[in-house]
Amino acid sequence: MSFRLQPTPPARPNRCQLFGPGSRPAIFEKMAASAADVINLDLEDSVAPSDKDSARANIIQAIGDIDWGNKTLSVRINGLDTPYWYRDVVDLMEQAGDRLDQIMIPKVGNAADIYAVDALVTAIETAKGRTKPITFEVIIESAAGIAHVEEIAAASPRLAAMSLGAADFAASMGMATTGIGGTQENYYMYRDGQKHWSDPWHWAQAAIVAACRTHGVLPVDGPFGDFSDDEGFRAQALRSATLGMVGKWAIHPKQVAIANEVFTPSAEAVSEAREILAAMEEAKAKGEGATVYKGRLVDIASIKQAEVIVKQSEMIANH
Ligand code: COA
Ligand code: MG
Repeated sequence: MSFRLQPTPPARPNRCQLFGPGSRPAIFEKMAASAADVINLDLEDSVAPSDKDSARANIIQAIGDIDWGNKTLSVRINGLDTPYWYRDVVDLMEQAGDRLDQIMIPKVGNAADIYAVDALVTAIETAKGRTKPITFEVIIESAAGIAHVEEIAAASPRLAAMSLGAADFAASMGMATTGIGGTQENYYMYRDGQKHWSDPWHWAQAAIVAACRTHGVLPVDGPFGDFSDDEGFRAQALRSATLGMVGKWAIHPKQVAIANEVFTPSAEAVSEAREILAAMEEAKAKGEGATVYKGRLVDIASIKQAEVIVKQSEMIANH
């Protein structure tokens, strides 16, 4: 990145973000007991308008009452195009205990959306003498969001993570899809009498990863709706990891283990990365910038790739 060092994102595991509706407090304890790194208690689209007030109260109560262990605890507020969001922020910031780590802002369309929430959060933080700064995460799930993705990634020092929300994104883009994430039946190349399915989310994911990596924010893949399709979820998660994302949402507890597995570098990947680093050390000692590892070229760029894998694995192990 020009002559400046690329900023590092927050050093926290973010392999899986488990969601649950704020209107369903019976599952909060189960969420806390899960293996997800991040918990997202929802006030937005999984909560009916008539339940918004009670969901807010449930969440505020649960933040203090439940032992959330060392998980990142996040609450998804309502969008800035609703009458609910300011009350979400005010009540959470005034009434929720210090255990709250993060606020998730959905349907972000530009940097000013983040500025607006930041102004409110900062004022209440100061007024209440809250000493732990709340971090933000955002969802890119509209045409405006993806069009302004880089300014959004740079919008606030509070910003820790950014997710792609496939369903709202598809609706906003006018995409002819109904599933939440994953392969889409009509998105294929055709050759020699055979269909070859392609990935309609690829561009949006890559754009999010680029914006996040430029500004030190964690890029995360959003929901995969068909929770009975484990292999479809795994394939989507593997593609996201390949593109540079660090984790994925779970909208059902059975998705947590798969996300954790995919986004934890495997023992083989880590030992291969260490071997590449050792091979490059040897090359350097001989004054060479490139060498051969298992019949393929490795060079200075390979060091950086290998270091990403080793660092990610160490960060997860030491958490
Ligand atoms: N977190 C933790 N536990 C959950 C859970 C969640 N999100 N969803 C379900 N469970 C529990 C159930 O309580 C049940 O527990 P039990 O075995 O002790 O009875 C178990 O997991 C199996 O649940 P299941 O019967 O398969 O699902 P369900 O019909 O109760 O709920 C959903 C299915 C999809 C409605 C539910 O998982 C859900 O609300 N997911 C989150 C939706 C959301 O937050 N969306 C917003 C982001 S897109
Ligand atoms: Mg959405």
